[in-house]
Amino acid sequence: MNTAERAGMSVVTGASSGIGAVYADRLAAEGRALLLVARRQDRLHEIAADLSSRHGTSVETMVADLEQPQDLARLEARLESEPVAMLVNNAGAGSLGPTARSSADKQEQLIRLNIVALTRLSLAALAGFRARNAGALVNIGSIIAHAPSAGAAAYSGSKAYVANFTRSLQLEYAEGPIRIQLVMPGPIRTEFFSSQGMSDSVFPDTSFLTAEQLVDAALAGLSAGEAVTSPSMAEPETWDALEAARQHYLASTFSGQVAPRYYRPTEPAA
Ligand SMILES: NC(=O)c1ccc[n+]([C@@H]2O[C@H](COP(=O)([O-])OP(=O)(O)OC[C@H]3O[C@@H](n4cnc5c(N)ncnc54)[C@H](OP(=O)(O)O)[C@@H]3O)[C@@H](O)[C@H]2O)c1
Repeated sequence: MNTAERAGMSVVTGASSGIGAVYADRLAAEGRALLLVARRQDRLHEIAADLSSRHGTSVETMVADLEQPQDLARLEARLESEPVAMLVNNAGAGSLGPTARSSADKQEQLIRLNIVALTRLSLAALAGFRARNAGALVNIGSIIAHAPSAGAAAYSGSKAYVANFTRSLQLEYAEGPIRIQLVMPGPIRTEFFSSQGMSDSVFPDTSFLTAEQLVDAALAGLSAGEAVTSPSMAEPETWDALEAARQHYLASTFSGQVAPRYYRPTEPAA
């Protein structure tokens, strides 16, 4: 964290449990003033009281349902008008289960939170960062961005959006001092599954990290200037190989010619 960033407030969405609550703890321990956002007021108050007594930092809470335009606009206004140093766009929903057993309204709710809110909050924070020439934007994606999944259609799609949106922003802000990080968690032990009446036993027990492990690694990645942080990926070369495959695919689509497999076989001459 640089000096300009230390001076401003850090905002964490979805701070009432799981990954967001751990971000709140770690940022408070760094001495940052916090604004914690979520729907559950009791949880936010409990966490804020604990953090300010343990770390002696200023911790404010905002009860907001970020699926709701009025609540979202309240937070955007604060991001635009106050000296915010860091935004952790963490609040997210899964809406897991087969689409045939869900509704279009339910999927739209997910899109409002995972895509619309994350986009609007990112843009509001970046406007303030540009004005002060400093700031850090951390967007929480998921490895499911790379894993189209039956039972997680909109969730997988929404996290693919988070990944491409964030990585495109990184290209736009590549030259300046503003830091933008995409965090790609794998399975993490939180309330994420149980809050939706789902079991997390779809993943092997051994594949999970704790929220503490995830956040500590993500903050280390941010300090190291990483653009994309995949805390449980052991070898960075794995990411390089994925990037190389993506570039190869893209290059192949610029041939300007229809691929031979789509031609009708030439009739043999009579
Ligand atoms: N757990 C995993 O395996 C995993 C893996 C990859 C990515 N992730 C991502 O990590 C992020 C955090 O999830 P988590 O695992 O920490 O789950 P979690 O413990 O369920 O936390 C979700 C947080 O989002 C908040 N939230 C949910 N809906 C909201 C809304 N409409 N408005 C405002 N806040 C809302 C919740 O608070 P309230 O209910 O109080 O509003 C809670 O604080 C999500 O973006 C998730 O997609 C999780």
